[in-house]
Amino acid sequence: TSYWVIVPAAGAGKRMGADKPKQYLPLSGKPLIAHTLENILHWPGLKGIVVAIAADDTEFATLRCAQDARIQTVTGGAERADSVLAALDYLSEREAPETSILVHDAARPLVRVADIRKLLAAAPMALLAQPASDTVKLSQTRGGKTEVRETLPRDQIWLAQTPQKAPLGKLRETLLQGLAENSTAITDEASALERAGFHPELVAACRSNFKITHPADLLLAEALLQHRAV
Ligand code: C5P
Repeated sequence: TSYWVIVPAAGAGKRMGADKPKQYLPLSGKPLIAHTLENILHWPGLKGIVVAIAADDTEFATLRCAQDARIQTVTGGAERADSVLAALDYLSEREAPETSILVHDAARPLVRVADIRKLLAAAPMALLAQPASDTVKLSQTRGGKTEVRETLPRDQIWLAQTPQKAPLGKLRETLLQGLAENSTAITDEASALERAGFHPELVAACRSNFKITHPADLLLAEALLQHRAV
């Protein structure tokens, strides 16, 4: 079965502390987002990609892959979920509500095709995720200090990655509803689906599918890309 991929790429990437959005920072000779998009173009069964870019974006059009007929752009919004919704609006005018959608961060260039195949074979609502290797503490603030409230059972903790997969109509409905109710709680697609009572399947993925967020992440990604090339 075929599917569309949505790539939210309208963020400022403030935690990177660079002079431009992180998706355009150089990684092994080309912008980070070019790696991500070229990777996606190799996924089996891909129908097309909708990239949500910032209203004042001047860099996207200069990418070589921007010329690929399978890639469309829309203008993103204030939060990640707004950017995803802009792309869902575009698709809902062209595709049936049952159409499968995979949302993938521009900042995850290293996802493996083997993991994409596992995700495609999973339940209609599913996401790539990594079982936690560290012990996870839930915190609370008391007397100006941040302290441990409790330790979460590690064997039940997963760190959500992307892609996250869901049918177009349901994803759009639940994101709209989630944003209207409590927008700060909607940090990924699964969180909106959960609020609506769905239980997306967790698909264990390689930890190389990390999200490039801090400067050291770029160095690690570069090393992994070089390692793969040999
Ligand atoms: O900031 P964070 O790392 O969570 O961003 C995840 C992805 O969402 C990035 O690819 C970023 O460009 C995108 N994003 C977006 N629109 C926003 C904020 C983030 O498309 N308003």
